[in-house]
Amino acid sequence: METNALEIPTLDTERLRLRAFRRSDIEEYAALNADPEVLRYLNGAGAEPWDRGRSWRHMAFLMGHWQLGGSGMWVVEHRETGGFVGTIGFAAPDGWPGFELGWTLARRWWGHGYATEGARKALAYAFTALEKDRVISLIHPENLASVRVAERIGETLEGRISHLGREMLCYGLDRETYLGDE
Ligand SMILES: CC(C)(COP(=O)(O)OP(=O)(O)OC[C@H]1O[C@@H](n2cnc3c(N)ncnc32)[C@H](O)[C@@H]1OP(=O)(O)O)[C@@H](O)C(=O)NCCC(=O)NCCS
Repeated sequence: METNALEIPTLDTERLRLRAFRRSDIEEYAALNADPEVLRYLNGAGAEPWDRGRSWRHMAFLMGHWQLGGSGMWVVEHRETGGFVGTIGFAAPDGWPGFELGWTLARRWWGHGYATEGARKALAYAFTALEKDRVISLIHPENLASVRVAERIGETLEGRISHLGREMLCYGLDRETYLGDE
């Protein structure tokens, strides 16, 4: 039998594993999206907690994004404990302003450098395996923790953009600069 399923890569860093979503991630993913502190600055999400059904539909969207776009979001797992840390990876649905790298961690995992560590790995994957010319990150101007992650991985502020009804900062990095800095 022929299948059309795309093989989603698994990437390891020192402390983390970036892997595909599984059905059993629903509990942790729903908990992540039910936290107003996590949602506060996210694209178009507003601070209204998501119910479990919305999280399940979003997991399906994220898996479909891989299938249709050839890249997407990973679940970030803590290698030592297997804990669900959050999600890191790419968003580039049709009509998106660029090839976006994003990061969202559950609150208990903030403050340990995990977002930076995982985002660095995903960025390398974008420029090497995927051979992208440019990666962007759209960040709410008040989301200072996220701005710090963008700056730590080498992105710089390129401008402001109106995105899903919100004014966002556009951070970005191009391939030449990335390869030159390596
Ligand atoms: C944005 C977000 C992922 C940032 O998380 P974070 O934990 O602050 O980011 P990092 O994982 O890179 O951690 C960096 C912090 O950990 C500390 N840290 C501890 N150990 C570290 C290590 N080994 N390496 C690097 N940093 C370390 C750093 O001091 C740093 O804190 P500081 O910047 O206040 O000095 C998190 O706030 C979040 O999930 N927010 C909600 C979702 C969201 O808004 N996503 C972004 C949308 S654009």
